[in-house]
Amino acid sequence: MDYVTLANGVKMPQLGYGVYQVTKEECKRCVLDALDVGYRAIDTAQSYFNEAEVGEAIAESGIDRKEIFLTTKVWIEHYGYEQAKESVLQSMEKLKTDYIDLVLLHQPFADYYGAYRALEDLYEEGKLRAIGVSNFYPDRLVDIASFARIKPMVNQIETHPLNQQIEAHEWLEKYGVIHEAWAPFGEGRGNMFSNHVLQEIGKKYDKTVAQVILRWQLQRGIVVIPKSTHKERMAQNLDLFDFTLTNEDMQAIAALDTKTSSFFSHQDPAMVEWFVKMVEERKGK
Ligand SMILES: NC(=O)c1ccc[n+]([C@@H]2O[C@H](COP(=O)([O-])OP(=O)(O)OC[C@H]3O[C@@H](n4cnc5c(N)ncnc54)[C@H](OP(=O)(O)O)[C@@H]3O)[C@@H](O)[C@H]2O)c1
Repeated sequence: MDYVTLANGVKMPQLGYGVYQVTKEECKRCVLDALDVGYRAIDTAQSYFNEAEVGEAIAESGIDRKEIFLTTKVWIEHYGYEQAKESVLQSMEKLKTDYIDLVLLHQPFADYYGAYRALEDLYEEGKLRAIGVSNFYPDRLVDIASFARIKPMVNQIETHPLNQQIEAHEWLEKYGVIHEAWAPFGEGRGNMFSNHVLQEIGKKYDKTVAQVILRWQLQRGIVVIPKSTHKERMAQNLDLFDFTLTNEDMQAIAALDTKTSSFFSHQDPAMVEWFVKMVEERKGK
């Protein structure tokens, strides 16, 4: 396994397992499978509603907690200082742990400064080993990195061959923030897994498109957290350390960039309204 070193010296595995859209019913089995094939980093979130199952799997695996790098994210409806602090303590309980390796603010909306101050305090109390953000595109990233007491150590953003985040990456480097890719395969959108350029590169090394994509991100210094519910794919996505893409391969992949999200833009006001509506609806429940 390769590691990146965060601004505070903490080492984070460059490859982990993500559990977005893994149902409560399947999550414990999936995380146990992932740990069994060798993953030692798990990425969950309050809004995935599977933290408890992740916690159960880790406890059941018998693997020393210190060997596992655990990430969760605070959801918008828990923003503001007090609520964010309380929600992280609740996440810890669900995850059956007395510390979390990395906690991120999931979205750059609502009172994220209040929420971030809660993360800073929990970090200083020793309950979190590292803190950061997610979906903070360069304008928001520069803002929080400049005005917060502790700079975010990680920013988790959509990154895959069709949306490579070249400019965002430069801003992250400037502020010493590690780039973590969400949806490293773009969830397969844009016919990602049958992309001809990626297939041809894979053939040279006897590797799949998925492996080529992940290897490309590792060589860019990016942390990846692919999701799969299939054990053989989990193992395949981990089998990346016996080949190296050439500069020519890297350039061929660079040419696939559309500089456009395969999902939605966080700068689109209609999408911000969508998030607001979701928070309102959940309050009503
Ligand atoms: N911060 C955020 O806002 C945010 C947003 C999205 C995701 N994330 C994080 O990033 C993680 C990964 O992103 P994601 O789950 O959205 O998408 P992804 O990892 O890009 O893609 C997952 C899809 O690829 C398929 N797949 C996985 N490995 C494969 C392989 N070797 N060959 C063929 N197909 C394969 C999976 O199918 P099967 O499961 O059927 O194998 C699934 O449909 C999430 O789980 C989550 O932890 C964060």
